Amino acid sequence: MISRSLKKLTRRNKASYKKVENNIEVTALVPANTTVNDDMEYIADITDQFSATMDPILRMYSAAMSATTARLEIIKDEFKYRKLRVPIHHIDTRLKSASSILGKLQKKSLALTLTAACNNIFDIAGIRVICPYIKDVYLIRDRLMAQDDIYIMEIKDYIAQPKKNGYRSLHMTIRVPVYFMNKKQMVPVELQLRTLSMDLWASLEHDLLYKSLYDDNEKKLDIRDIDIEKELKECSELIYTAEAKMEKLNACLEDMQ
Ligand code: GTP
Ligand code: MG
Repeated sequence: MISRSLKKLTRRNKASYKKVENNIEVTALVPANTTVNDDMEYIADITDQFSATMDPILRMYSAAMSATTARLEIIKDEFKYRKLRVPIHHIDTRLKSASSILGKLQKKSLALTLTAACNNIFDIAGIRVICPYIKDVYLIRDRLMAQDDIYIMEIKDYIAQPKKNGYRSLHMTIRVPVYFMNKKQMVPVELQLRTLSMDLWASLEHDLLYKSLYDDNEKKLDIRDIDIEKELKECSELIYTAEAKMEKLNACLEDMQ
């Protein structure tokens, strides 16, 4: 049995989602000359078939991820070249697998089709940008927003308004242009911008929940009597206090230069 607080914790605090554009046909999302079979209403039991059909689309998302990472690397290089403090510590990328996309469609009670996937799942291409300080997070956000061929679909600022459990990060869903032989596609990419400290908290919290939920050996993790949600929120606040202090120190040093 997992504790009540832990169960409560797994129900992610959802911020409202603002839809900013009309749905698009899946056929409009794949490179020319690619055959897409989306006429299956329900393809839950044929994961392999879904994976095969999803393949050209995943390649397109992968291209969008590389294109976005290249833009971030250019920003990083510019700071290095100017011998300025670099606002990006590191970048992680991940492409959602076909089975994970199917799982998410199921979880959201959506049709198990490619069209539903492309129109409702915007984190197929995911990029995590880890920055040293909070001001760097907003700098990267602004630099991306200033690029006039990037379309901003949504921004969720969990730094200004942390989630109830203490989760902090800035989420951006954007569309980036990907050029194929004879057409251009605006492909969604989800960016999570966060500081090293925010990443520390999020990684440990994820690890803790994952272990607690999936570890058979409950005694090993005897956390039933602890209000995990409260404890994690406190950790987040402690980390934030230290982070704010170090950011202030950095600002003082930068002012002196
Ligand atoms: P999706 O439909 O999954 O996109 O849900 P959502 O849009 O309501 O979630 P949101 O965009 O706020 O967060 C999605 C991602 O952010 C997750 O897949 C995690 O990577 C990260 N995330 C959000 N909340 C938490 C949290 O409380 N802890 C950790 N560790 N990560 C979180
Ligand atoms: Mg999301």
